Amino acid sequence: MWKQAIEDAVEKTRVNIGRFGDQFPHCSKNDEYMLTPNNTWTDGFWPGILWLCYEYTGDNDFLEAARRTVESFRNRMEKQIRVDFHDLGFLYSLSSKAQWMIEKDPQAKALTLEAADMLMLRWRPKSGIIQAWGNEGDELNGGRIIIDCLMNLPLLYWAHRTTGDEKYLDVAVKHADRSRRFLIRGDDSSYHTFYFNQETGEALRGGTQQGYDDGSTWTRGQAWGIYGFALSYAYTKDPLYLETSLRLAKYFLNRLPEDHVVYWDFEAPVTPETKRDSSASAITVCGIHELLKYLPADHPDRAFLEDGMNKSIRGLVESYSTMDMPGAQGFLKRGSYSVRKGNSPDDFVIWGDYYYLEALMRLERGHKGYWYEQV
Ligand code: GLY
Repeated sequence: MWKQAIEDAVEKTRVNIGRFGDQFPHCSKNDEYMLTPNNTWTDGFWPGILWLCYEYTGDNDFLEAARRTVESFRNRMEKQIRVDFHDLGFLYSLSSKAQWMIEKDPQAKALTLEAADMLMLRWRPKSGIIQAWGNEGDELNGGRIIIDCLMNLPLLYWAHRTTGDEKYLDVAVKHADRSRRFLIRGDDSSYHTFYFNQETGEALRGGTQQGYDDGSTWTRGQAWGIYGFALSYAYTKDPLYLETSLRLAKYFLNRLPEDHVVYWDFEAPVTPETKRDSSASAITVCGIHELLKYLPADHPDRAFLEDGMNKSIRGLVESYSTMDMPGAQGFLKRGSYSVRKGNSPDDFVIWGDYYYLEALMRLERGHKGYWYEQV
């Protein structure tokens, strides 16, 4: 079943290379991807899909297309086009770092290190955080973290392993610790965002940007936490990160709806109109697959996690994939960017497609993803 789903995605990607040209897919409108010129946070996912397709097929068309996207990312860095936010990990892990992992291209490695250095510029020592959005000192965003940033930290862990420079590790660990302490609640749910005083570092309050309300649990945020803490464990071997990933995963799996694909927020009242976020389920499958690598064989939660992971991917393939829609641009229906703001609330979202394919490649052939590299 996984093989068939992968092959469907590979064929769609082959067609999409011609459709997208030098542009990058973001979210869909009326079933067509809106394209960007490589200037937003989602642009790494298309290169990630191309690298996965290349690894699956060995086909030169995918290789050439993937290499072209890395050139676009080199241009983005050189011209400093929208690199002033924390999403550099999403962008460069799946473009130049993937190229480095696959081809051992030294220029790709150098570009990835440049991206890590850019991310370091967002470190705010007084509040002990990597600032997600906005300029330093920004009244609203200056002391704000978001749970999504856990997926940007692997870039810093990798830079530490690659260069031996402790500064990258120090910042990543401090940020992960602050995230663990303040974004994760006592009942294993999570805040999407948290505010700190920019001068004193005092913890102020949790909040949301894309969730149902400030106190709710946005399902994609929980998914970023599951995968992100598993990766923090992979690099640091701090057992607290593994425990945190596990707690978040159990919370998530204990709240799966009947078809095993989550709604957009665990607190959103469920009616026939409530939107799903299939991307949150796809990210969670990858995160649990990573987490399972580090749990002992006789761990009491192992069977529960495996069962939840398998039900989730089966639910995605059987009820949310576009395998029955040969002309579709996306692989996965019913992703939601921001239901709260009315942005692509029930559409293709490129990160949903990427994590769906990563999940399938993990299950079908033990692919490790491009986030963790054992340097
Ligand atoms: N990282 C942004 C999002 O998940 O919407």
